[in-house]
Amino acid sequence: MSGSTITPWVVGNWKMNPMQANAQQLIQDLKQQLQQGDILEGQCRIGVAPPSIALSSVQAELANAAIDVITVAQDVSRIAGTGAYTGEVSADLLKDSQITYVLIGHSERREIFADTASVVAEKVKHALAAGLHIIYCVGESLVQREAGQAEQVVLQQICDISAVVEAEQWANITIAYEPIWAIGTGKTASPEDAQAMHAKIREGLTQITPQGPSIALLYGGSVKAENAVELAACPDINGALVGGASLNAESFYQIAHAFAQSK
Ligand code: PGA
Repeated sequence: MSGSTITPWVVGNWKMNPMQANAQQLIQDLKQQLQQGDILEGQCRIGVAPPSIALSSVQAELANAAIDVITVAQDVSRIAGTGAYTGEVSADLLKDSQITYVLIGHSERREIFADTASVVAEKVKHALAAGLHIIYCVGESLVQREAGQAEQVVLQQICDISAVVEAEQWANITIAYEPIWAIGTGKTASPEDAQAMHAKIREGLTQITPQGPSIALLYGGSVKAENAVELAACPDINGALVGGASLNAESFYQIAHAFAQSK
């Protein structure tokens, strides 16, 4: 089933970038693009995910942007509440700082920081309990794709969290499909392959929850201004999670523009 009535949603994942001076410039440039551009409020939701140290300052600086820009955390602790957990930031602390969106399960967290399926599920559970909206990342490796396991891996990653998500909480979930081999490599999944996986994800979600048809499915992995129009034209690609290209305000704006125009 097509999710084409879903408001598109484009999120910039800044990862461990940039230094403060460049972040300031990036925000000023983005505000300028939004001011001069013609994306209307409600036509495309826009978010940026800065490093945790910058969440509050970025949110404050974006407060007077021409259209609403949501500040998204890149990760959250698997521990809830407050307590003696050095280095951790819980969902409750994020909420307390008015940060209400969070990425969970990014492949860099899974691969580099050993976030296992059960750790990811705990993060999802606590984030939802704290009332956060989650952008849950899934995606297969090149080896898994070449072995014909891509669909199975991705659907399993969705099943991994389904046990901890209560029926009404699906309204607070967005899915980002990011094939690992396409992240930061310049290789994008073809629009056909991405659409095919998104259609499978939607089918899988629809079996799990009646809200399946209305869950936004973002594509991520080397999304750029040059390929955004084609990706945005796919019925089940409702937006993008953008890494490298989100560090340039003009490119990021163009990607958002492509989604705003297409839906
Ligand atoms: P990329 O990263 O756009 O640089 O490939 C996407 C992501 O990891 O979210």
